[in-house]
Amino acid sequence: MEQFRQIPFTHTFGGKSHERAAEAAERLKAIAPHAASKVLFCGSGSEANDQQVKLVWYYNNALGRPNKKKIIARQRGYHGVTVASGSLTGLPANHRDFDLPIAGMLHTDCPHYYRYAEPGETEDEFTTRLAKNLEDMIIREDPDTVAAFIAEPIMGAGGVVIPPAGYFEKIQAVLKKYDIYFIADEVICGFARTGNMFGSQTFNMKPDSISVAKALSSAYFPIAAVTVAEEMYQAMIDESKKIGTFGHGFTYTAHPVGAAIAAKTLEIYEKRNIVGHVRSLAPRFEGHVERLAEHPLVGHARAKGLLGAIELVADKSSKRAFDAKAGIGAAVVAAAQRHGLIVRALAGDIVAFCPPLIIAAEQIDDMFAAVHKALDEVEAQVTKEGLRAA
Ligand SMILES: Cc1ncc(COP(=O)(O)O)c(C=O)c1O
Repeated sequence: MEQFRQIPFTHTFGGKSHERAAEAAERLKAIAPHAASKVLFCGSGSEANDQQVKLVWYYNNALGRPNKKKIIARQRGYHGVTVASGSLTGLPANHRDFDLPIAGMLHTDCPHYYRYAEPGETEDEFTTRLAKNLEDMIIREDPDTVAAFIAEPIMGAGGVVIPPAGYFEKIQAVLKKYDIYFIADEVICGFARTGNMFGSQTFNMKPDSISVAKALSSAYFPIAAVTVAEEMYQAMIDESKKIGTFGHGFTYTAHPVGAAIAAKTLEIYEKRNIVGHVRSLAPRFEGHVERLAEHPLVGHARAKGLLGAIELVADKSSKRAFDAKAGIGAAVVAAAQRHGLIVRALAGDIVAFCPPLIIAAEQIDDMFAAVHKALDEVEAQVTKEGLRAA
């Protein structure tokens, strides 16, 4: 409210800025998982990833590499729904009949070991194969045409997919070899969710830039951002001088109220040691999720920090899924809600858990008591209606 009274709105065009934008940017730079020099604000996670694409294109033009423009994302990745970020998203429902993806947006493998490992393949063999497939794709496309790779540390909307140990190290070795810019989409994992300030730190990722949204303002205001390293910034400044302007920006870029909320949110994360809080609760949360694997409906249970999911299956040993039309994931969500818990079902009967970062230990226990009741009820229904039949 204070910010609404002070400056409810001002734009940031023509070299203008304001204190709250500077404060939010400085706070973000101080905690970013790479050497960030500048922060470019926008309104949503989708816009952030659209900006990433535009900045990478602009940068490569500035460097005199007009052919280095393709972006590689991953199947089941989620990066938003605007034209460019929707193209990076690797989920059929976000493409179909929207004429996406646009040209030059490619999708490599999803690192979901439980679903996509070959019979007998170890995690190490699996990640080596995925890195090899990525390298083959880059060579096939011609490395001089591949500009960037984008990945969420943990895939969110695609099923809470936690990559096996060593995955990002192998992927990054390939990116480095072919001079491919690495964007970490921290829209879900950013700000303590995985037990570090950023998911990049949890998974040993060394991105060139991050996209942030959601928890940047604790989601209390639509504000998002991308970080830019000094080298990229300088190249873009030179290009903009040639052109006469940097022709990009939104009316609401770094909206003063959003920037004030973001700056305050980042201050609170630090003051309340939100990373420490998540870390202290992570073993309890992860333990609860992992124990759900014993339930007859659950084929796979996975969690990291305060983010987790269960994948429901008709047959545990063959990992056979339920008929999608049976809506088993949605049934668990509805049953959980009857017991006072809001959870979300994702495609493939995956039920995701993503509680508020300030949740207390007892509330985690309550949360999973409700999950157990919901699973038992749906299991009873599955048995009664013979829904396991192949
Ligand atoms: C990883 C990730 N990136 C980008 C987005 C898009 O953000 P928005 O919905 O704010 O456009 C989301 C949204 O859920 C997301 O989870």
